[in-house]
Amino acid sequence: DLKDNTIIVVLGASGDLAKKKTFPALFALYRQGFLPRDCKIIGYARTKMDKPDFEKRATSYIKNAEDNKDIANAIESFKTILTYVAGDYEDGAAFDKLRGHLEGIESSYQSKEINRIFYLALPPTVFIPVAKNLKEHCYNPKAGVNRIIIEKPFGKDLDSARDLLNTVKQYWSEDETFRIDHYLGKEMVKNLLVLRFANIAMGAAWDKNSISNVQITFKEPFGTEGRGGYFDEFGMIRDVLQNHLLQVLSVLTMERPVSFAAEDIRDEKVKVLRSIPPIERNDTLLGQYVSANGKPGYLDDETVPPNSTCPTFAATTLWIHNPRWEGVPFILKAGKALNESKVEVRIQFKDVTQGIFKDIARNELVIRIQPNEAVYLKLNSKTPGLYTRAIPTEMDLTYKRRFLEAKIPEAYEALILDALRGDHSNFVRHDELDVAWKIFTPILHWIDGVNGPRPRPVSYPYGSRGPKELEAFIEKYGYKRNSDAYFWPVTNMA
Ligand code: BG6
Repeated sequence: DLKDNTIIVVLGASGDLAKKKTFPALFALYRQGFLPRDCKIIGYARTKMDKPDFEKRATSYIKNAEDNKDIANAIESFKTILTYVAGDYEDGAAFDKLRGHLEGIESSYQSKEINRIFYLALPPTVFIPVAKNLKEHCYNPKAGVNRIIIEKPFGKDLDSARDLLNTVKQYWSEDETFRIDHYLGKEMVKNLLVLRFANIAMGAAWDKNSISNVQITFKEPFGTEGRGGYFDEFGMIRDVLQNHLLQVLSVLTMERPVSFAAEDIRDEKVKVLRSIPPIERNDTLLGQYVSANGKPGYLDDETVPPNSTCPTFAATTLWIHNPRWEGVPFILKAGKALNESKVEVRIQFKDVTQGIFKDIARNELVIRIQPNEAVYLKLNSKTPGLYTRAIPTEMDLTYKRRFLEAKIPEAYEALILDALRGDHSNFVRHDELDVAWKIFTPILHWIDGVNGPRPRPVSYPYGSRGPKELEAFIEKYGYKRNSDAYFWPVTNMA
């Protein structure tokens, strides 16, 4: 249900998130005809800019490497729907000016129904004044919808998150609020619902009887590189585990929802998250990268406080106390400055009954979220020939091979479209966030030194696979590494 007469206001329009993610996503939707008819986009930020300056900035990350004429033309026509308003975030009068600008555009609409979508690409320090000012000065009480799209960080622990969410709630109802976790917009994360619930074969093996352990892994090949000041306040757990990886975990482990309706899905996610107790210290491994191969260590970043103990790598094991998952370890791990860029879910199944085979590899189902989306199952098969010996092979669904023409949308494209349609299924509900913080807050307080000395992360070299302690950490939970003879032959397909 895409509504005509819609204006999208991007607040924080001169910032990094807007430039790199929001505007390119809006452009992609525009180009494919997915924006509402006659949709207009207003940028709002503190920086004073004229229209050409703003257009340049807003389109600076739109890809057109091969100078494609159609794309170039589309960018020019996209610019015609953009306008810009400069103003402060704390100042009500500035928001009156924004309202005047909105009303100026809306005065040409034929119908009385008008829709305003506010996208906050803003630092958390101004969330609250902006949410308040938008409600008090820019909310349209007449026919149509008003929606606000916000993104993490939603607080730093349970109490601060509750404060933030409750304050925003004074102005914006749950129905009007769209909390982004952009991992929920990723194609392979969305695919989890289909893989799990549209396949009887998968569903049958999806529990503690068949599964030994699960790893959800996030690897980035670069460090904080000048963003350290921001990162240091949050650390790897708040940056990636508590939100992105936990979201993946909840979709992976929830029970079958009654329908695809947003509340049915989110009810199930909350239910499984509520079965997870807070993480224990001894289920945690923290790391920080140090200089190697000419690359700087975390503490060499000038924006990082000296002697910081902030983890740039974290592995934590979560347990789900319900009949399906009792006893299965879920290892969430994420790190910066590692050897590669990769996000994947790796489900390792149990050993087959001993007796007829010796040293046989375990089945593993890998859902590769990015890059090079794929789902593959490691499977033992008879070595072809006149003898009976099993070797590990794979059933492989590599997207680039199977879906030759398919273009996989960016997460933000998918999510902005959902918000325009009013579909909450891929956004984070208030109570979901609350329980996510309950799981992580004790461990975060320990790391922050709230009740005692801060734990020291172990070090790992920039560009490595992570701390050397990681292997033992994972094996402690029953993970068995396959023999080195096995490798997935298409992993590095371009
Ligand atoms: C963000 C984190 O939420 O996600 C960043 O703050 C991280 O530190 C990013 O780099 C990763 O997103 P993606 O889509 O590149 O996997």
